[in-house]
Amino acid sequence: AKEPMRVLVTGAAGQIGYALVPMIARGAMLGPDQPVILHMLDIPPATDSLNGVKMELVDAAFPLLKGIVATTDVVEACTGVNVAVMVGGFPRKEGMERKDVMSKNVSIYKSQASALEAHAAPNCKVLVVANPANTNALILKEFAPSFAEKNITCLTRLDHNRALAQIAERLNVQVSDVKNVIIWGNHSSTQYPDVNHATVKTTTGEEPVRKLVADDEWLNSEFITTVQKRGATIITVRKASSALSAASSACDHIRDWVLGTPEGTFVSMGVYSDGSYGVPAGLIYSFPVTCSGGEWKIVQGLPIDEFSRKKMDETAQELSEEKAIAYSCLN
Ligand code: NAI
Repeated sequence: AKEPMRVLVTGAAGQIGYALVPMIARGAMLGPDQPVILHMLDIPPATDSLNGVKMELVDAAFPLLKGIVATTDVVEACTGVNVAVMVGGFPRKEGMERKDVMSKNVSIYKSQASALEAHAAPNCKVLVVANPANTNALILKEFAPSFAEKNITCLTRLDHNRALAQIAERLNVQVSDVKNVIIWGNHSSTQYPDVNHATVKTTTGEEPVRKLVADDEWLNSEFITTVQKRGATIITVRKASSALSAASSACDHIRDWVLGTPEGTFVSMGVYSDGSYGVPAGLIYSFPVTCSGGEWKIVQGLPIDEFSRKKMDETAQELSEEKAIAYSCLN
Protein backbone atom coordinates (compact mmCIF):
# COMPACT_ATOMS: atom_id res chain seq x y z
CA ALA A 1 0.00 0.00 0.00
CA LYS A 2 1.15 3.55 -0.70
CA GLU A 3 2.33 5.83 2.10
CA PRO A 4 -0.22 8.58 2.78
CA MET A 5 0.54 12.02 1.38
CA ARG A 6 -0.03 15.04 3.60
CA VAL A 7 -2.08 17.82 2.03
CA LEU A 8 -2.37 21.23 3.67
CA VAL A 9 -5.42 23.39 2.99
CA THR A 10 -5.28 26.87 4.54
CA GLY A 11 -8.55 28.72 5.01
CA ALA A 12 -10.10 25.27 5.35
CA ALA A 13 -13.17 26.52 7.22
CA GLY A 14 -14.11 28.83 4.35
CA GLN A 15 -16.32 28.28 1.32
CA ILE A 16 -13.70 26.79 -0.99
CA GLY A 17 -12.23 24.78 1.86
CA TYR A 18 -15.58 23.17 2.57
CA ALA A 19 -15.90 22.05 -1.05
CA LEU A 20 -12.24 21.11 -1.43
CA VAL A 21 -11.47 18.88 1.54
CA PRO A 22 -14.02 16.16 0.64
CA MET A 23 -12.73 16.13 -2.94
CA ILE A 24 -9.19 15.56 -1.67
CA ALA A 25 -10.41 12.84 0.72
CA ARG A 26 -12.15 11.09 -2.19
CA GLY A 27 -9.02 10.99 -4.31
CA ALA A 28 -9.92 13.73 -6.80
CA MET A 29 -6.60 15.47 -6.24
CA LEU A 30 -4.02 12.70 -5.93
CA GLY A 31 -5.77 9.72 -7.43
CA PRO A 32 -8.08 6.93 -6.25
CA ASP A 33 -5.26 4.78 -4.84
CA GLN A 34 -3.39 7.49 -2.93
CA PRO A 35 -4.15 7.66 0.82
CA VAL A 36 -4.10 11.17 2.26
CA ILE A 37 -3.73 12.93 5.60
CA LEU A 38 -5.49 16.29 5.57
CA HIS A 39 -3.95 19.27 7.35
CA MET A 40 -6.48 22.06 7.79
CA LEU A 41 -5.46 25.53 8.94
CA ASP A 42 -7.70 28.46 9.78
CA ILE A 43 -7.62 31.39 12.19
CA PRO A 44 -8.89 31.37 15.81
CA PRO A 45 -12.31 33.00 15.08
CA ALA A 46 -13.02 30.04 12.78
CA THR A 47 -12.05 27.36 15.32
CA ASP A 48 -15.57 26.02 15.87
CA SER A 49 -16.43 25.80 12.22
CA LEU A 50 -13.06 24.21 11.47
CA ASN A 51 -13.79 21.55 14.07
CA GLY A 52 -17.23 21.09 12.51
CA VAL A 53 -15.62 20.39 9.14
CA LYS A 54 -13.33 17.88 10.84
CA MET A 55 -16.33 16.11 12.39
CA GLU A 56 -18.04 15.90 9.01
CA LEU A 57 -14.90 14.47 7.43
CA VAL A 58 -14.89 11.80 10.13
CA ASP A 59 -18.60 11.12 9.56
CA ALA A 60 -18.10 10.73 5.81
CA ALA A 61 -15.86 7.69 6.51
CA PHE A 62 -13.63 8.26 3.47
CA PRO A 63 -11.57 5.10 2.91
CA LEU A 64 -8.55 7.10 1.62
CA LEU A 65 -8.48 9.53 4.54
CA LYS A 66 -5.88 8.27 7.01
CA GLY A 67 -5.76 11.25 9.36
CA ILE A 68 -6.89 14.81 9.99
CA VAL A 69 -4.95 17.68 11.54
CA ALA A 70 -7.29 20.64 12.18
CA THR A 71 -5.48 23.53 13.77
CA THR A 72 -4.92 27.26 14.09
CA ASP A 73 -1.21 26.67 14.70
CA VAL A 74 0.75 27.44 11.55
CA VAL A 75 3.72 25.23 12.40
CA GLU A 76 1.54 22.22 13.25
CA ALA A 77 -0.39 22.76 10.01
CA CYS A 78 2.72 22.91 7.83
CA THR A 79 4.70 20.06 9.34
CA GLY A 80 5.51 17.29 6.90
CA VAL A 81 3.15 18.43 4.14
CA ASN A 82 3.81 17.23 0.58
CA VAL A 83 1.24 19.53 -1.03
CA ALA A 84 0.11 22.94 0.24
CA VAL A 85 -3.04 24.58 -1.10
CA MET A 86 -3.16 28.18 0.11
CA VAL A 87 -6.81 29.22 0.14
CA GLY A 88 -6.77 31.41 3.25
CA GLY A 89 -5.99 35.03 2.78
CA PHE A 90 -7.35 38.49 2.94
CA PRO A 91 -9.52 39.17 -0.12
CA ARG A 92 -10.05 42.66 -1.47
CA LYS A 93 -13.21 44.18 -0.09
CA GLU A 94 -15.22 47.05 -1.49
CA GLY A 95 -13.45 50.36 -1.15
CA MET A 96 -10.08 48.78 -0.32
CA GLU A 97 -6.97 49.87 -2.12
CA ARG A 98 -4.84 47.18 -3.73
CA LYS A 99 -1.98 48.22 -1.49
CA ASP A 100 -4.04 47.60 1.67
CA VAL A 101 -4.93 44.09 0.52
CA MET A 102 -1.35 43.40 -0.39
CA SER A 103 0.02 44.49 2.98
CA LYS A 104 -2.52 42.28 4.79
CA ASN A 105 -1.42 39.34 2.66
CA VAL A 106 2.24 40.09 3.16
CA SER A 107 1.83 39.59 6.90
CA ILE A 108 -0.25 36.41 6.44
CA TYR A 109 2.20 34.88 3.98
CA LYS A 110 5.20 35.81 6.06
CA SER A 111 4.33 33.37 8.85
CA GLN A 112 2.89 30.68 6.60
CA ALA A 113 5.80 30.73 4.17
CA SER A 114 8.35 30.62 6.97
CA ALA A 115 6.56 27.66 8.54
CA LEU A 116 6.41 25.84 5.20
CA GLU A 117 10.08 26.50 4.57
CA ALA A 118 11.06 25.16 8.00
CA HIS A 119 8.63 22.26 8.37
CA ALA A 120 7.15 21.07 5.05
CA ALA A 121 8.35 17.82 3.44
CA PRO A 122 11.19 18.18 0.93
CA ASN A 123 10.02 19.17 -2.55
CA CYS A 124 6.61 20.28 -1.24
CA LYS A 125 4.39 21.57 -4.06
CA VAL A 126 2.55 24.82 -3.38
CA LEU A 127 -0.63 26.07 -5.06
CA VAL A 128 -1.81 29.57 -4.15
CA VAL A 129 -5.55 30.07 -4.64
CA ALA A 130 -6.17 33.14 -2.46
CA ASN A 131 -6.32 36.42 -4.33
CA PRO A 132 -4.38 38.22 -5.64
CA ALA A 133 -3.18 34.69 -6.42
CA ASN A 134 -0.21 35.39 -8.70
CA THR A 135 1.24 38.05 -6.45
CA ASN A 136 0.54 36.16 -3.21
CA ALA A 137 2.62 33.35 -4.70
CA LEU A 138 5.50 35.77 -5.26
CA ILE A 139 5.24 36.99 -1.69
CA LEU A 140 5.25 33.41 -0.43
CA LYS A 141 8.51 32.70 -2.23
CA GLU A 142 10.00 35.85 -0.71
CA PHE A 143 9.54 34.36 2.77
CA ALA A 144 10.43 30.80 1.74
CA PRO A 145 13.61 31.58 -0.19
CA SER A 146 14.91 28.01 -0.14
CA PHE A 147 11.81 26.76 -1.98
CA ALA A 148 12.55 26.02 -5.62
CA GLU A 149 10.71 28.36 -7.98
CA LYS A 150 9.31 25.33 -9.78
CA ASN A 151 7.43 24.33 -6.63
CA ILE A 152 5.43 27.55 -6.31
CA THR A 153 2.38 28.01 -8.52
CA CYS A 154 -0.97 29.77 -8.53
CA LEU A 155 -4.42 28.76 -9.71
CA THR A 156 -5.64 29.80 -13.15
CA ARG A 157 -7.11 26.39 -13.92
CA LEU A 158 -10.58 27.64 -13.00
CA ASP A 159 -10.31 30.26 -15.76
CA HIS A 160 -8.97 27.56 -18.09
CA ASN A 161 -11.90 25.28 -17.32
CA ARG A 162 -14.35 28.14 -17.77
CA ALA A 163 -12.90 28.76 -21.23
CA LEU A 164 -13.24 25.07 -22.16
CA ALA A 165 -16.84 25.15 -20.96
CA GLN A 166 -17.76 28.28 -22.94
CA ILE A 167 -16.43 26.70 -26.14
CA ALA A 168 -18.26 23.43 -25.45
CA GLU A 169 -21.54 25.28 -24.86
CA ARG A 170 -21.14 27.36 -27.99
CA LEU A 171 -20.42 24.33 -30.19
CA ASN A 172 -22.80 22.04 -28.34
CA VAL A 173 -20.07 19.45 -27.80
CA GLN A 174 -18.82 17.66 -24.69
CA VAL A 175 -16.39 19.70 -22.63
CA SER A 176 -14.12 16.63 -22.49
CA ASP A 177 -13.71 16.88 -26.28
CA VAL A 178 -12.32 20.43 -26.09
CA LYS A 179 -8.66 21.00 -25.21
CA ASN A 180 -5.68 23.33 -25.32
CA VAL A 181 -7.28 26.65 -24.56
CA ILE A 182 -4.79 28.92 -22.79
CA ILE A 183 -5.13 31.44 -20.00
CA TRP A 184 -2.26 33.91 -20.20
CA GLY A 185 -1.25 36.18 -17.34
CA ASN A 186 -2.97 37.30 -14.20
CA HIS A 187 -5.89 35.62 -12.44
CA SER A 188 -7.82 38.87 -12.77
CA SER A 189 -9.98 40.58 -15.36
CA THR A 190 -6.89 41.32 -17.48
CA GLN A 191 -6.24 37.60 -18.06
CA TYR A 192 -6.21 36.63 -21.73
CA PRO A 193 -8.20 33.51 -22.63
CA ASP A 194 -6.76 32.36 -25.97
CA VAL A 195 -8.34 29.78 -28.28
CA ASN A 196 -5.85 30.05 -31.15
CA HIS A 197 -4.36 26.64 -30.37
CA ALA A 198 -7.48 24.96 -29.03
CA THR A 199 -9.06 21.97 -30.73
CA VAL A 200 -12.20 19.86 -30.56
CA LYS A 201 -12.35 16.11 -31.03
CA THR A 202 -14.84 15.33 -33.81
CA THR A 203 -15.82 12.12 -35.62
CA THR A 204 -13.38 13.07 -38.37
CA GLY A 205 -10.45 13.95 -36.08
CA GLU A 206 -9.29 17.05 -34.21
CA GLU A 207 -10.44 20.37 -35.61
CA PRO A 208 -9.34 23.87 -34.61
CA VAL A 209 -11.82 25.78 -32.43
CA ARG A 210 -11.37 28.83 -34.71
CA LYS A 211 -12.57 26.81 -37.70
CA LEU A 212 -15.55 25.23 -35.91
CA VAL A 213 -16.78 28.40 -34.21
CA ALA A 214 -16.18 30.39 -37.41
CA ASP A 215 -17.15 33.61 -35.66
CA ASP A 216 -13.99 35.59 -34.94
CA GLU A 217 -16.05 38.50 -33.67
CA TRP A 218 -17.49 36.32 -30.86
CA LEU A 219 -14.14 34.69 -30.11
CA ASN A 220 -12.30 38.02 -29.96
CA SER A 221 -14.78 39.84 -27.78
CA GLU A 222 -17.71 38.18 -26.01
CA PHE A 223 -15.94 34.88 -25.37
CA ILE A 224 -13.00 36.69 -23.78
CA THR A 225 -15.05 39.00 -21.58
CA THR A 226 -17.38 36.18 -20.50
CA VAL A 227 -14.41 34.20 -19.18
CA GLN A 228 -12.74 37.27 -17.67
CA LYS A 229 -15.91 38.28 -15.83
CA ARG A 230 -17.27 34.86 -14.97
CA GLY A 231 -16.20 35.12 -11.34
CA ALA A 232 -18.08 38.42 -10.95
CA THR A 233 -21.14 36.94 -12.67
CA ILE A 234 -21.19 34.01 -10.26
CA ILE A 235 -21.08 36.45 -7.33
CA THR A 236 -24.06 38.33 -8.77
CA VAL A 237 -26.26 35.25 -9.20
CA ARG A 238 -25.07 33.13 -6.28
CA LYS A 239 -24.48 36.01 -3.85
CA ALA A 240 -21.22 34.26 -3.02
CA SER A 241 -18.05 33.68 -4.98
CA SER A 242 -17.17 30.54 -6.91
CA ALA A 243 -16.39 27.74 -4.51
CA LEU A 244 -17.13 24.27 -5.89
CA SER A 245 -15.64 25.15 -9.27
CA ALA A 246 -12.58 26.69 -7.62
CA ALA A 247 -12.14 23.59 -5.44
CA SER A 248 -12.54 21.23 -8.39
CA SER A 249 -10.03 23.22 -10.46
CA ALA A 250 -7.52 23.18 -7.60
CA CYS A 251 -7.77 19.37 -7.68
CA ASP A 252 -7.25 19.39 -11.46
CA HIS A 253 -4.18 21.62 -11.07
CA ILE A 254 -2.47 19.40 -8.50
CA ARG A 255 -3.55 16.13 -10.12
CA ASP A 256 -2.09 17.09 -13.48
CA TRP A 257 1.07 18.47 -11.86
CA VAL A 258 1.69 15.31 -9.80
CA LEU A 259 0.32 12.63 -12.14
CA GLY A 260 0.99 14.29 -15.52
CA THR A 261 -1.02 15.76 -18.38
CA PRO A 262 -2.32 13.47 -21.14
CA GLU A 263 -0.21 13.24 -24.30
CA GLY A 264 -1.02 16.15 -26.62
CA THR A 265 -2.86 18.15 -23.96
CA PHE A 266 -1.72 21.27 -22.21
CA VAL A 267 -3.28 23.10 -19.28
CA SER A 268 -2.89 26.57 -17.76
CA MET A 269 -0.90 27.15 -14.57
CA GLY A 270 0.42 30.29 -12.93
CA VAL A 271 4.18 29.66 -12.78
CA TYR A 272 7.45 31.62 -12.63
CA SER A 273 8.18 33.19 -15.98
CA ASP A 274 11.58 32.32 -17.40
CA GLY A 275 11.12 34.94 -20.10
CA SER A 276 9.19 32.59 -22.42
CA TYR A 277 6.95 34.42 -24.91
CA GLY A 278 8.56 37.71 -23.94
CA VAL A 279 6.95 37.69 -20.49
CA PRO A 280 9.24 39.41 -17.97
CA ALA A 281 11.16 36.79 -15.98
CA GLY A 282 10.35 36.69 -12.29
CA LEU A 283 6.61 37.29 -12.61
CA ILE A 284 4.20 34.52 -11.72
CA TYR A 285 2.24 34.41 -14.96
CA SER A 286 -0.24 31.89 -16.32
CA PHE A 287 1.23 29.87 -19.20
CA PRO A 288 0.28 26.76 -21.14
CA VAL A 289 2.17 23.87 -19.53
CA THR A 290 2.55 20.14 -19.83
CA CYS A 291 3.44 18.05 -16.79
CA SER A 292 5.34 14.82 -16.43
CA GLY A 293 7.25 13.17 -13.58
CA GLY A 294 5.89 15.76 -11.14
CA GLU A 295 7.30 18.73 -13.07
CA TRP A 296 5.63 21.35 -15.25
CA LYS A 297 7.16 22.71 -18.43
CA ILE A 298 6.02 25.76 -20.39
CA VAL A 299 4.82 24.77 -23.87
CA GLN A 300 7.25 26.39 -26.31
CA GLY A 301 7.02 27.64 -29.86
CA LEU A 302 3.33 28.52 -30.16
CA PRO A 303 2.86 31.25 -32.78
CA ILE A 304 1.53 34.47 -31.23
CA ASP A 305 -0.39 36.93 -33.38
CA GLU A 306 -0.57 40.68 -32.89
CA PHE A 307 -3.94 40.57 -31.10
CA SER A 308 -2.64 38.04 -28.59
CA ARG A 309 0.66 39.87 -28.13
CA LYS A 310 -1.12 43.01 -27.04
CA LYS A 311 -3.34 41.18 -24.56
CA MET A 312 -0.43 39.15 -23.16
CA ASP A 313 1.54 42.37 -22.62
CA GLU A 314 -1.37 44.14 -20.92
CA THR A 315 -1.80 41.42 -18.31
CA ALA A 316 2.00 41.25 -17.80
CA GLN A 317 1.97 45.00 -17.21
CA GLU A 318 -0.68 44.62 -14.52
CA LEU A 319 1.36 41.88 -12.84
CA SER A 320 4.49 44.04 -12.87
CA GLU A 321 2.51 46.79 -11.14
CA GLU A 322 1.12 44.36 -8.56
CA LYS A 323 4.62 43.07 -7.94
CA ALA A 324 5.92 46.59 -7.36
CA ILE A 325 3.11 47.28 -4.86
CA ALA A 326 3.74 43.97 -3.08
CA TYR A 327 7.47 44.62 -2.78
CA SER A 328 6.82 48.11 -1.46
CA CYS A 329 4.83 46.41 1.34
CA LEU A 330 7.78 44.15 2.17
CA ASN A 331 9.89 47.09 3.28
P1 NAI B 1 -13.84 32.47 2.55
O1 NAI B 1 -13.80 33.85 3.13
O2 NAI B 1 -15.10 31.69 2.55
O3 NAI B 1 -12.73 31.57 3.27
C1 NAI B 1 -11.46 32.04 3.58
C2 NAI B 1 -11.03 31.34 4.85
O4 NAI B 1 -9.67 31.72 5.08
C3 NAI B 1 -11.84 31.74 6.07
O5 NAI B 1 -12.27 30.57 6.76
C4 NAI B 1 -10.86 32.55 6.89
O6 NAI B 1 -11.08 32.43 8.29
C5 NAI B 1 -9.54 31.91 6.47
N1 NAI B 1 -8.37 32.73 6.73
C6 NAI B 1 -8.23 34.09 6.74
N2 NAI B 1 -7.00 34.44 7.08
C7 NAI B 1 -6.32 33.29 7.29
C8 NAI B 1 -5.00 33.01 7.70
N3 NAI B 1 -4.14 33.98 7.97
N4 NAI B 1 -4.64 31.72 7.82
C9 NAI B 1 -5.51 30.72 7.60
N5 NAI B 1 -6.77 30.93 7.22
C10 NAI B 1 -7.17 32.20 7.07
O7 NAI B 1 -13.27 32.64 1.07
P2 NAI B 1 -13.35 31.60 -0.15
O8 NAI B 1 -14.57 31.87 -0.94
O9 NAI B 1 -13.10 30.24 0.36
O10 NAI B 1 -12.12 32.10 -1.05
C11 NAI B 1 -10.81 32.00 -0.57
C12 NAI B 1 -9.85 32.77 -1.49
O11 NAI B 1 -9.81 32.19 -2.76
C13 NAI B 1 -10.21 34.23 -1.69
O12 NAI B 1 -9.02 34.99 -1.62
C14 NAI B 1 -10.76 34.26 -3.08
O13 NAI B 1 -10.61 35.54 -3.67
C15 NAI B 1 -9.90 33.22 -3.75
N6 NAI B 1 -10.41 32.64 -4.99
C16 NAI B 1 -9.50 32.35 -5.98
C17 NAI B 1 -9.89 31.74 -7.15
C18 NAI B 1 -8.89 31.41 -8.20
O14 NAI B 1 -9.30 30.92 -9.25
N7 NAI B 1 -7.60 31.63 -8.01
C19 NAI B 1 -11.29 31.41 -7.39
C20 NAI B 1 -12.16 31.71 -6.29
C21 NAI B 1 -11.72 32.32 -5.14
